[in-house]
Order: sequence, then C-alpha cells, then structure tokens
Amino acid sequence: MSKVEKVTILGKDTIHVGYGIQDHIVSEIIANKASSTYVIITDTNLARTQPFNKLKTNFETQLKQERPESRLLSYYVPPGENNKSRTTKAAVEDFLLQQGCTRDTVIIAVGGGVIGDMIGFVAATFMRGVRVIQVPTSLLAMVDSSVGGKTAIDTPLGKNFIGAFHQPDYVFCDISFLETLPPRQFINGMAEVIKTAAIWNEEEFTRLEKFANQFLAVVTSKHPDLLSIKQELVKTVLESVKVKAFVVSSDEKESGLRNLLNFGHTIGHAIEAVLTPEALHGECVSVGMIKEAELSRYLGILPPVAVARLSKCLANYGLPISIDDKDFLKKVGTKRHYVEIETLLKKMAIDKKNDGSKIRCVLLEKIGRCYQLKAHEVSKRDLTFVLTDEVLVHPFDPKAIPQSTVIVPPGSKSISNRALVLAALGNGTVRIKNLLHSDDTKHMLDAVASLQGAEISTEDNGETIVVKGNGGNLVTCGEQLYLGNAGTASRFLTTVASLVGVNPETNEQHVVLTGNARMQERPIGPLVDALTSNGSEIEYLNKQGSLPLKIQASKGLRGGRIELAATISSQYVSSILMCAPYANEPVTLALVGGKPISQLYIDMTCAMMKSFGIEVTKSSTEEHTYHIPKGVYTNPEEYVIESDASSATYPLAFAAMTGTSVTVPNIGSSSLQGDARFAVDVLKPMGCKVEQTATSTTVTGPPRGTLKPLPHVDMEPMTDAFLTASVVAAVAKNGTTSITGIANQRVKECNRIKAMVDELAKYGVTCNELPDGIEIHGVDIDELKTPSTEKRGVKSYDDHRVAMSFSLISGLCKEPVLILERSTTGKTWPGWWDILHSKFNVTLDGYELPFNVEDASAVEGNGDKSIIVIGMRAAGKSTLSKWLASFLGFKFLDLDEYLEKKLGVDIRELIKDKGWEYFREQEAIIAKECFTQYSQGYVLSTGGGIVEGEEARSQLKAYVKSGGIVLHLHRDLDETVTFLSADASRPAYTNEIKEVWLRREKWYQECSNYHYYSSHCANDVEFNHLRSSFIDFVKTITGQQLVAVPRGRSSFVTLTFPSLNEAKHLEEIVIGSDAVELRVDLLKDYSLTFVAEQTAILRKYIDLPIVYTVRTKSQGGSFPEENVDQLRELLLLGIKLGVGYLDLELTTPNEVIEQVLANKGFTRIIGSHHDFTGALKWNNVEWKNKYNQAVSLNADIVKLVGTAKSFQDNIDLEIFRRENTLKPLIAVNMGEQGKLSRVLNPILTPITHELIPNKPTGTGQLSIKEINKAFTEIGGFTHKKFYVIGSPIEHSRSPNLHNAGYEKLNLPYTFDRFEAEDADVVYEQLIKDKADFGGLAITMPLKLQIMKYATELSDAAKVIGAVNTLIPVQGGYFGDNTDYVGIINSFIRNGVPSIENSKVNGLVIGGGGTSRAAIYALHEMGCDKIYWVNRTSSKLHEIKESFPSDYNIEILETKEQVDASEPVSLVVSCVPATSELDKDLLVKIEALLLKGSESKQGGFVPNLLEAAYKPRVTPVMKLAQDKYEWNVIPGVEMLVNQGERQFKIHTGFNAPYKTIHEAVVAE
Ligand SMILES: NC(=O)c1ccc[n+]([C@@H]2O[C@H](COP(=O)([O-])OP(=O)(O)OC[C@H]3O[C@@H](n4cnc5c(N)ncnc54)[C@H](O)[C@@H]3O)[C@@H](O)[C@H]2O)c1
Ligand SMILES: [Zn+2]
Repeated sequence: MSKVEKVTILGKDTIHVGYGIQDHIVSEIIANKASSTYVIITDTNLARTQPFNKLKTNFETQLKQERPESRLLSYYVPPGENNKSRTTKAAVEDFLLQQGCTRDTVIIAVGGGVIGDMIGFVAATFMRGVRVIQVPTSLLAMVDSSVGGKTAIDTPLGKNFIGAFHQPDYVFCDISFLETLPPRQFINGMAEVIKTAAIWNEEEFTRLEKFANQFLAVVTSKHPDLLSIKQELVKTVLESVKVKAFVVSSDEKESGLRNLLNFGHTIGHAIEAVLTPEALHGECVSVGMIKEAELSRYLGILPPVAVARLSKCLANYGLPISIDDKDFLKKVGTKRHYVEIETLLKKMAIDKKNDGSKIRCVLLEKIGRCYQLKAHEVSKRDLTFVLTDEVLVHPFDPKAIPQSTVIVPPGSKSISNRALVLAALGNGTVRIKNLLHSDDTKHMLDAVASLQGAEISTEDNGETIVVKGNGGNLVTCGEQLYLGNAGTASRFLTTVASLVGVNPETNEQHVVLTGNARMQERPIGPLVDALTSNGSEIEYLNKQGSLPLKIQASKGLRGGRIELAATISSQYVSSILMCAPYANEPVTLALVGGKPISQLYIDMTCAMMKSFGIEVTKSSTEEHTYHIPKGVYTNPEEYVIESDASSATYPLAFAAMTGTSVTVPNIGSSSLQGDARFAVDVLKPMGCKVEQTATSTTVTGPPRGTLKPLPHVDMEPMTDAFLTASVVAAVAKNGTTSITGIANQRVKECNRIKAMVDELAKYGVTCNELPDGIEIHGVDIDELKTPSTEKRGVKSYDDHRVAMSFSLISGLCKEPVLILERSTTGKTWPGWWDILHSKFNVTLDGYELPFNVEDASAVEGNGDKSIIVIGMRAAGKSTLSKWLASFLGFKFLDLDEYLEKKLGVDIRELIKDKGWEYFREQEAIIAKECFTQYSQGYVLSTGGGIVEGEEARSQLKAYVKSGGIVLHLHRDLDETVTFLSADASRPAYTNEIKEVWLRREKWYQECSNYHYYSSHCANDVEFNHLRSSFIDFVKTITGQQLVAVPRGRSSFVTLTFPSLNEAKHLEEIVIGSDAVELRVDLLKDYSLTFVAEQTAILRKYIDLPIVYTVRTKSQGGSFPEENVDQLRELLLLGIKLGVGYLDLELTTPNEVIEQVLANKGFTRIIGSHHDFTGALKWNNVEWKNKYNQAVSLNADIVKLVGTAKSFQDNIDLEIFRRENTLKPLIAVNMGEQGKLSRVLNPILTPITHELIPNKPTGTGQLSIKEINKAFTEIGGFTHKKFYVIGSPIEHSRSPNLHNAGYEKLNLPYTFDRFEAEDADVVYEQLIKDKADFGGLAITMPLKLQIMKYATELSDAAKVIGAVNTLIPVQGGYFGDNTDYVGIINSFIRNGVPSIENSKVNGLVIGGGGTSRAAIYALHEMGCDKIYWVNRTSSKLHEIKESFPSDYNIEILETKEQVDASEPVSLVVSCVPATSELDKDLLVKIEALLLKGSESKQGGFVPNLLEAAYKPRVTPVMKLAQDKYEWNVIPGVEMLVNQGERQFKIHTGFNAPYKTIHEAVVAE
C-alpha cells in the first residue's frame, strides 16, 4: 500500500492523502467509525470506474470480516451540477428512510464537488445530522470542496444558496481516482490549486510553474499515465489541502482569513453565473483571477511581473485567462455575449460572500501573498475598467497630473533577448533585472533550460532572473524545441543549436527547432546557408527555408570567414556574432550584399558582447566585416536591462504634451537603442527641454499648447517612434510636421501610416501619406475634436503602439475619448493604462460596446473576391460562369483561352505535340498566375481536367482556405455525354467520359467549397428558370441574401421520398409551406452526386428554401450514426449546396459540429434534438440543457422534438416554450397524443401532405390543412372578412382568387366585392369598429383615396404613390402596393433571369397609374435604363420627377430619341387594351421591339408583359409575338402574381399558386 500523508484540520488529522489507498480508507472507516449501516453514495459516472469498484469491493470484503453484523448500502445519483438539486437530495433521503437508516449511519460520499456538497448536506440534516466521510474523486473536490465542511445544493435562483456547515469525519484524497477523471475536469481543478498557491505559498507556486508542461502533456494524452507524475500530483494536492486546512482551522465560519480563498471568485462567480453549465467553475475562476490581479495592478498594489506570471502559469495548465480565449469561446459559444458589465456587476453585488451590495475582492500583493490578508471593498468604476477592453480616456486635468514623474518602462525586447543568449552561453551566475517577459524570452528560457545550457531560477518574486551559465556546454534533449511564433528566439537559437553537443546519457544526435504554423512560413534560409557553409549540418523538415529545422549535434562551427547577406535581417548577424566565440577558429564575419539593414542592432550586439567579456573588432580593411576572437563569456554579477526606448517615448511625449516633466532613469545618451534619440531629435526641436546623461533622460514640455511643428525629420533610425511623434505633432499648432524614412511601418501589426491618417482625422487633424512617411498638419489644442463615441471612438488595429499613442492625444480633448482594444498594449507594455492611472492620475473608465446578438453570426460576404469555377467539360461552366459574372458585375476569364493566348498555340495541338503531362504542368502555372493576378472581380472558369494535376489541386484548395469560393458545377452525366458527342470543336477524351468522371469526382469534391448541380432543361422557360434559381444560389453563397427566419406562423414540409426523381406533385405538396425539407437520410443513395441531384430537382420545381436534414437512427431517422465520416461529408455537402437551412443534431460528434459551424457560410443552422423514446418530460433539465447547447452553438433556430405519452405533455411543452425565448424555437411532440403541440408550434412547424406516399406512421404529423383547421377550431384563427373595393368591380377576379386560396389552406376567411367610389364609405361600412375586418384589395378609383386611412406605408406604396392592399395593424392600417410584385414575378415565372448588373434596359408604355408600378418594378429588377413612351409625353415629365434620379428614366418623345436609344429586353405595356393604339406611338413601339429582338440583350429572348387582362391577347401582344418574336405574357399573369403577394400580406401564408391561378383563369 502507498504512503498516506495526514493533514490536520480543526485540531484533528482527518485528511488523508495518498495514491491508491482504497485499503487504507476502508480499514480506517471500519476501525474507527463503528456503525450498523454504511452507505456509499456516488454518481453513475463514478460507479463505472475501476478505482471506485476497488473501494466498494474492499469495503464489502473487509466489512464481512470485521463487522459482519453491519450492512453496506450503496446508492447512485445522476451526475452533474443539474442534479445538485432539491429533487435529488429528497430522493437520497427517501432512500435512506426506506432502508431504515438511523442516527448512527455513516455516509460515504464518493465523487466530485457535486456529490460532496449535496451528500454532505443530506448528512447535515438527515436525522438532525449523521456522520459523513468525504472521498473526493475530482481534483477540485480534493483540494477544495471536500475540505472545510461547507455543504449545499442549488436552486433555480442561484447556486449553493441552501446548505449548512457540516464537517466530515474524514476526507480521503486518493489520487488514483483521478485516473478516470476527464481532462477538462482535471484542468478545471488546477485553477483552485494555482489560486491557493498564489495567495499563500510562493514556493509552491514556483513548483507549479515548472510542473505545468509535464502535467498538461500527461493529462491530455490519449491514455494518461498518472503514475508517471504520481509524486508531483500527490504534492500538488497535499500542498493545496494543507493551506485550505490551515485557513479553515483558523476561520471555520468564513469571517476573515477564509475569505482569501475567494481570490478570483468575485469576478469568477459572476462570469460562471452567466456561462454555466457550458463553462466550469475553475475556468471562470481562472479568468476571474487574472481580472482581479489586473485590478490589483491597476490600483498600484501588484507589480506587473506578478500578473504576467499568474497568466502564464494558468495558461500553461490549459486554463483560460480571458473570456475571449479561443478554446474557452468554443465551449461557451454565443453565450459569451451575455457576459455584460451590467450583468456581472449585479451578480457580484449579490454574491453571498459579499455583504449587502458592496463588492469585495481579494487583492493580491505579490505571488504568495494577499494585500492586508483580507477582502477589500472595490469600486464599480475600477471593476468596470478591468472588465472591459474598451477605455474612455478622460481629459488630462492639469491640476491632477503631477509636475514631475519618474517612469521605468518595461525592459527592451532586443536587449532582453541578447542578454539571455549571452548569459546562457557564459560562465558564472548573472542576475538579470528588468527583463521583458515576452514570447521570445519565454521560449528562449525554456530552450536554454532544455539544452542544459544554464540553470535558470527567479528571485524577488520573479523580478530577477538568475542565470547560472554552463560556459556554452549545451547538450541535446529528447523533445523538439517548440518556439511558437517567437521570431527573434528562432533566429538566435538556430546558431546556438549548432553549438550543441550530444547528450551522453541519451545519445540523442539532433536538435529540432519548430514553431507554430505562422512560424513555419517565416524565412530563415540565409542564416542556415551561412551556418552550413561553416560546417553545421542542418536539414529542413518541412518547407525549404523555414522551421522546423533538424540540426546535427557536435558539428559546431568551423570558424574562419563567414559570409552573410545582411540586407534582410540584422538578427541573422547578431545570431552569428553572439555564437562566434565558440567556433573552433576565430571568426571573421563579412556582411555582403550592400549596406546591412539596422546597423544599430549590430552595434548593440557587439556592445553587449563586450559587457560579457568578448570584444569584437571591426575590420580596418573591409567594409561591414567583423573579427570575433575565440573565448567564453564571463557573466557579470548583475545585468540591468535598459528600458525599451520605443516604450519610453510615450511617457516622454506625455510630458511634452502636458507641459510637465518626466524622467526615464535608465535610458540615456549612451543607449544603443535607436528610439533613444527620440527626445533629442524630435521632442527638443519641438520646444521641449531635454536633459540627458549617459543613462537617463528627462523631458520637460513647454507650456500646454505651445509645441512647435518639426518641418522635417527622418525617423529611419527610430521608425517605431513615429506614431508617438505623429500625435505630438498633431497638437503642434499651425504648422506641418513631415516625417520620412518610415516606409516599413506600413507592414507592421497594421498599416501604421494609414492608421495614423485615418484616426487622427477623427480628432480634426489632417495628414497626408508620403511615399515613405507622413505629413501632419498640427492644430491648436483647443480646436482638437473629440472622436465620437457613438461612432465607436478610435481604433487600435490590434497594434500596441497605435493604442498607446492615441491614449496621449485623447487626454487633450475636451470630452472623454473612447479607445478600442486597449489590451493590445499587452504586447510590450501591459501596465501602460495602470501607469496612466496611478502615476499620471488620469481618469479612465471602462466602456462596453453595445452588442447585438443578432449580428453575432454575421459573416462577411464574398465581396469582390474572384470566384473560380471547376467541373467536367460540358457541365455548363461557360454558360453558368457568364451568368455568374454578369450577375456579380465581374469580368469573365476562361483559363483555357488564356492559356492558348499566352502560349500562342491551340490546346489540342499542344497536347498532341507535348502530351498531357506537359499540358497539365502549363495549366497549373496558368492557374497560379490567374488566381493571384485576377484575385478580384473575376469569374475564372477552368478547364475540366484541372483537378487532374496535383499542383493545381493544391492551388484550388489553398484558394478555398484563403476564404475564396471555388464552385463546382455539375450536371447529369448522360446529358454531358450526349452534348459532347455532338461537339467536334473540343479535344477528344482519351477515356470514356464516365470513367473520367469517376476518377475526378472526389477531386472536384475536395477542391471546391460550393457545388451546384444543374437540372435538365427541356425548354427555354426551364432554362431561364435554371438561371434564376442559380442566381438565387449565388446570392446565398456570396452572402447577398440570407434566408430570413420566419417570425410568424410558418411551416416546412418534410419530403420522405427515397428519390425525388420519382416524386410526383411536388408543387402541390409544398402548398402553404415556407420551406421544404430534404430528408437525406431517407434517400436510397447517399452518394454525393445523387444527393446533389436531389437539390437540383427541388430547385427546378420549387422556389422555397431547402431544409437539409441527415437524421440519424438514434434521433429517429435512418442514417447510421456510426458512419461519422459519411455524416460529416453529407453535412458539409449541404453547406456546399448552399441550402437555406441545415439541420445539425446536437448529438453529432463535437469535431463534426465544429467543422460544420466553421464552414456554414450563409446557411442557417437548426440545432436539433429528438427524444422519440419519450424518456424526457418537458420539465426535465435535459431539455433546457439541449436548448442551451443549441444557443451556445449559435444555432439560428433550435428544434426540440419530444414524444407525448399523455395530453399533459403538450401543456408542459408550452410552458417550456414560454420560458425559452432566446432563439427561435421549433418544439413539438411526436405521437398521436402530441398533435396539439404541432398545432400550437408557431414557427417552421414540420408538416406532411396527403400526396406523400409511405409516410412514417404514428408520428402524429399533420398537413397544413389539418393544422389550420385545428387551430381554427380551438380559436387560434378567427373568422375574418376581406374585400375588393373600387368601381366598377363586378368582373373582378379577386374574390375567386382569394377564396380559392382560403379553401385550399383551410383558413376561416371570406372575400367579397364591395362596390364604392368613396373611401369614406368603405371605412364606415367595412372597417370602423369591425373586429373581423381582415383587409382590402383596392382598385380604381380608390387607390389614392384610401391612402389617408393608412397609418403606415410600404416603400413601394410611397414611391408608386398608390395603395392596392390594406391590412389592420397595431394602432392603425398598413398600406402596400403589390402591383409591382405582380410585374416582377410574372417576368420571373415566365423565365426572365436575374438581370442585376447585366445592363438590361426596360420600357414602359403608357402613362396611367399602372405605369408607375411598372417603373418601380423594372428598377427593382435591376434595369439599367428605363425608357418611357406614351401618346402624349407632357404628363410623363412631371411623374418622372417624382422618381429618384438613379432610376435612369428616359422619356422617348422623338424618333431621333428612339433611334438613339439602347435596346430593351423587358417591356410592360400599360395602355388600355380596348382602344386602338395611337399611330405615332405604334411606330416608336415597333422600332423598339425590333431593336430588342435583334440584340437579345442580357442573353435571353426579350419579354413583353401586358398589364391589361382583357382581352387575353391584346394588339400589342400580337404585334410583339408574331412580328418581332418576343415572349409575351398576358395580363392575367400579373393579376395572379400581384394577388399572390396580396394573399401573403393578408393571411401571412404563401398562396397556393396553382390554385389561385386556376381560379382566376376559370370563367
Ligand atoms: N463546498 C465547497 O467549499 C465547494 C468549493 C468549491 C466547489 N464546490 C462545488 O463543487 C461542485 C463542482 O465540483 P466538481 O468540479 O468536482 O464537479 P462534479 O462533481 O460535477 O464532477 C465533475 C464531473 O466529473 C465526474 N467525475 C468526478 N470524479 C470522477 C472520476 N474520478 N472519474 C470520472 N469521472 C469523475 C463527475 O461525474 C462529473 O460528471 C460545484 O457544485 C461547486 O459549487 C464546493
Ligand atoms: Zn472555487
């Protein structure tokens, strides 16, 4: 048995810690806690684990031997926080009572904190208290909840509100239980461990810092081997428990010291309250600790290094250190947006650890110690500041800011990096102070330690780094050295690694340097070349010229002459310089290729080498050449890193701008940092007094407002300081400062020059960009504008220097200025805001940007990024690509043509001459060229075989990866074959077409991110419809059109066909629906092509959004969920096909969910869960969990389907529906008894139709007719009356149209005629006080009159100036005009494609009321110009003025005008059909018709729509059709189409088109 450590609490050593101590636990209990009944209570998760079963079996055996008269009971509760409830507690109590347990019972609580808390509470109150023994099994429970006697349960109003203090008789922490603990829970527990060390025990904290990497590696490995870290784990638990036990012992009831344990919890709990259960306690506390530590730093109590240490430590254990931490966000999803300051402050004020509404926090003073050993009251203002990433900088108050201040900025990055390399290579111990803690230094330290180059430790609470160098004797190590994205570290370490020797213990021969993906792109080639030419052996493991590198040990450097191109990076030079003394021979380093870049950094390296005892001499004969002697560095006793000179510019500029004095005590004239010149070269000439010694700088500004501009300064030696200079210059009154030599600043964290220009403009300061600089036109301080907070203040561009610079000028404005992303200063100066606040006494406020949760899903559209089209030859690439280009206003480029042109040869010839392989090579080269050169505004149509070449494929994939669209077009193969056989102009295939397709299919799939399958078109109308549905698809995938989630009663019909090829009556089946569901799982074939073809069929017949569903078996469908890869493939196919909605089951494996969400583009996600067993009642928390899960995935719609076993289940569902309103919810019950829920469900109710064969039975699915009928029966729909009004109307077909629709959908409405010429009469008789008034259809002469009753008008009604549809709305009447919809949809239904951007012109004939609607319609359709002709044109001019000028209306009065006009492709004729056409007018019309038919602009046969519907064929129609071969559309079409929209407005339902059409046509 393992050793048991005992810890004393409240005077008794009852806490026992060990590994695998089940035997000990049992014997202790049986020996010392005599009882007639022992009850082991645990949760069902643990009941399955081996350590638990070992405990239980041991107990049974030992009890039989030792106390045969006693009994052992066990009881398992469901796991999880949700079950820490009154209900579960009661169930446990009932069990104990039923079993006849009495006062002498001993309860053994085995589990995590949930079990411990709840069972502890049961024990506290059962029989007024029985003995309890805690066997914590989660890390959190071991180190926290099991110790101290606090017990509780949760209530809906809050966690842990009901409970008691009840000390356990024993706490047994058996670490072996952790073997089965899920990694996330394990990591969660570490938060409390780190917390305890942070407030109490620096030594332990330091140990934890070192343990992190190993811990994380073991715990997150596939098969964690805890035994390998047993010692460390036991210590981790033990040390933590000791502190907790000590604190509890001195303050059992939490009145003083015990409060300290709440470090991180004030903020952590508030966050947890919002994010539970998605986020775990420890995760929230981790974030809370950082925020509370930052608060302490902000208040000037905690040094910055401590915050850095704490964050690093937590992060190294895999804990989040910010709510916006990437992995954390994945867990909490959109719930993140509910973490608002107001909410947090409210939650903090009621946290029970805070008395009353005051907020208290534990403030850390240093690692291992709390400030004054108590919790402190903190202000909401300060809390708000630390909790937000946006800051309001208040005006600098001259009375408050100190006259003189000393500021020590963080250490210089360049000096820190060099000092570490030198110290690590040196002999002896050096104490390094003011080291900058950055990624570079971190990786450098870790790497040096791994290579055993030096022993590294810290002193002064981390302020001092102690390096005990090993004289350059480094040896190989087992693991790869991971350098993240730390650029300097990678360059310095590459040479260092070439000096490494073989570790005799492991005989490892290589050092491998690697980094993250970004790092693996960054260049290192020139350095590697220089080293290899000097004897090193270095191999690129991945991409040539970049990390990862494999470096052969024991090769060293030969020495002698080394040549290096130093025009790219001075870091290569420094890297070689610093290692050169360790070469076998003295080194001569010659920098070739011209003037080295950043000479100052090279000088800095030489100077620092000198401080470490090696003197570099410059060659007296050769330019840019250095001699480095052999030797070993001697570490000085102490090395103080100079402050960063770029950072120092901010406090110095503060002095300049405010007329005060600031001293930076450790940068002076001897500094080798370029930016150290800032004070003398920039501030002094601007009017500041600058006093500089060799090592310090003091700047005193001139009186406020009297800075002088600097006509010209070359800032090449100090480029980073140009931003500071710019903001100073901005207030150098009445003059222009011009800064040059800073071109490189365009490619830093952001384009800094542009950032300055754009953001300074917000202060009313104008700047010009220069080729290599900027010109700033300074203004008087008093004229400085305050950037608008409403317009989101000033941006930081995620650039620390931008943020710091603007914090300065902001303080000079009259009002507070909002600066975004303030935490970006963390890159070089995390404490900058604290300095402003605590040293300069500047008032800062946190600010929270208003957030719109609806926007959260907004993805950026495709914009003008080029679209690449791939697919088989004859798949319709050229045609559809041209449609695409014309719709988007892009240029079209055929890559094959491009290739032919470029090589000057026909492709067929080329292939004949040089073979396919050569062609493919050329094709890939062309592709690469085009993808980069024409990356904007092009549709790039590729050759069918482009996917055959591997190189081309990888380019296509890269294009997708970079966010572009690669669209795969396809159509039925048989059609392709037929088509190709008829075409001799193309190169012949060497293989059969089908074989080719089979070979390429998967390549097309993997290279594209969108897929369109064109259906077969039998005629022109179908062909044109294909065009409009293709354009609809394009709108979806480019983000121009998002399916709007319906708000009102709506439904989708579920298609359960095995193949839609055989489905009949599709148009009839979808009547009344708002979407149509394709049940992919029910299809007879899951191949991607077959599924894609199904969407093509749907799109051919139905213009409704597709709901794409792959229902798995466990969710009641047919898809075998074990085929995860196929499921993934099918789901991703849905997105590729650009469907409107994608059903995503919440039980889908996480990684698939993540992948789908990452790719979802503009498809709406329905997060669904189905319980068809009926196991879950609607009041079961699991439903709430499912709902939350869907919400946190940011599903657009949540769909929950239960099963009704009784009628009551429907009532319970309605209660659930009422309580869950964060997202649109579809919730229904399956089963015969669940029908009511389908009737009551408001949005997107799944429905069926009587024409669908072989429907699954027993689901209780209803048709739209059944639902509407039932909803009417129970009073959901009430009877309503609609009318057509006007005069004469006895022939109006409106009543037939509408009544037929009502009947079809079972709506309890009637539609009548009401003859009237006076709107007032209508109002009095039909509308006023009529509760059943439903709405009106308005004809002449009332279309204008009725407008006075409309309290709201649609845009169309406003522009057209007439109302033809009226409905009652809240507080009045809404008027619309659907005539224009009638026109547009008549065109579309007759095959007119989308014409946006196609330069198609329209023509309106006639000047009456309808002509206005016609103009509006043609404009909406996207006509470029709208011509207008009439018998007399005087009236037209007046009406034209009432339309916006961008309608491009041109009235054609004369023959010359007609001749000069461009061809038209769309005509609406609005002249009365009864009278003869005017002669002159006829001439014009004929000329226009002729031109239109000749040009066929827009690529389709032109169309004429007749507005009059009697007679059926009018003279104009006849003329157009017979003489000029136009398509003509009779007026009845317009009537039906406008009625269709009217029906929708009146009833909220999509009208049954065929039905109403027939009703109108039938006489
Ligand atoms: N009383 C206190 O002083 C105190 C202090 C801190 C936290 N708490 C409470 O503790 C609770 C959280 O405790 P927790 O984090 O342990 O959560 P938990 O009890 O819910 O356990 C987490 C999950 O891990 C499982 N699990 C636990 N041990 C396991 C093991 N060895 N192997 C496999 N699975 C295992 C559980 O079944 C559960 O699903 C909260 O309710 C919190 O309020 C109380
Ligand atoms: Zn806690």
